Amino acid sequence: MSNTDYTKCPEPNMPEYAFIGRSNVGKSSLINALTNHKSLAKTSGKPGKTQLINHFKINNEWYLVDLPGYGYARVSKTVRAEFQSFLRDYLDKRENLLCTFVLLDSRLDPQKVDMEFMEWMGENGIPFVMVFTKTDKLNQTKFSKNMKHYEKVMLEIWEELPPRFYTSSVNKSGTEEILTFVEQTNEVYDKK
Ligand code: GTP
Ligand code: MG
Repeated sequence: MSNTDYTKCPEPNMPEYAFIGRSNVGKSSLINALTNHKSLAKTSGKPGKTQLINHFKINNEWYLVDLPGYGYARVSKTVRAEFQSFLRDYLDKRENLLCTFVLLDSRLDPQKVDMEFMEWMGENGIPFVMVFTKTDKLNQTKFSKNMKHYEKVMLEIWEELPPRFYTSSVNKSGTEEILTFVEQTNEVYDKK
C-alpha cells in the first residue's frame, strides 16, 4: 500500500520498521536486498524516485516501509524540517513503528541534513538505528577511517551512539544482521 497520509496506512496491527535517508542513499536497493526481490521497491539513478509511504508486509509478521528521501545534497541549506510534513507526522505518530533505519552513505563525511534529521528524531524520542550503505564501494582502510570519523562527529552531539549496521546491496553484507535485529525486536514486542 502506498500513500502520503499516516492515518491511511495499513492497520497498525504488526510491528513496523521504516527506512529513510537522503535521496539516492540506497534505500530501495537495500529493501530489495533484505527481501530477496529484484524490484519490490523501485530503484533508480535519479534522486527522488520514492515519493510515498510504501508499506510491504513481510511473512505476515511485520511491515517494512520505504519512505521518500528527505533531501538532496544540493539543497542542504534549507534542510532542517525540509522533509515533508507528512513524513514528520508518520514518524512521530505511527504507533506500531518500532524502529527507523536511518541510511547513511558510508563514502561520505557526516552530512548536515543527516545529522539534523537524527537530532530531530532524538528530540522527539523516535527510536532509530544507523545503517551505512554502499560499503562495497570502499576499501577496508577508507571504510574504517570513515566510520571512526562518523562516530567521532556523532559523539560531539550524542552521549551514546545508536546501534550501527554496515551494508551493501551489491554483496548483501549486513542484511542478515538487520533481519536478526528485526526478529529480536519483534520478539520483545510480541511478549508485551
Ligand atoms: P530515492 O528513492 O530516489 O530516494 O533513492 P534510494 O535511496 O531508494 O536509492 P536507490 O536504491 O534507488 O539507489 C540509488 C543508486 O545507488 C542506484 O544507482 C543503485 O544501484 C545504487 N546503489 C544502491 N545501493 C548500493 C550499494 O550497496 N552498492 C552500490 N555499489 N550501489 C548501490
Ligand atoms: Mg527509493
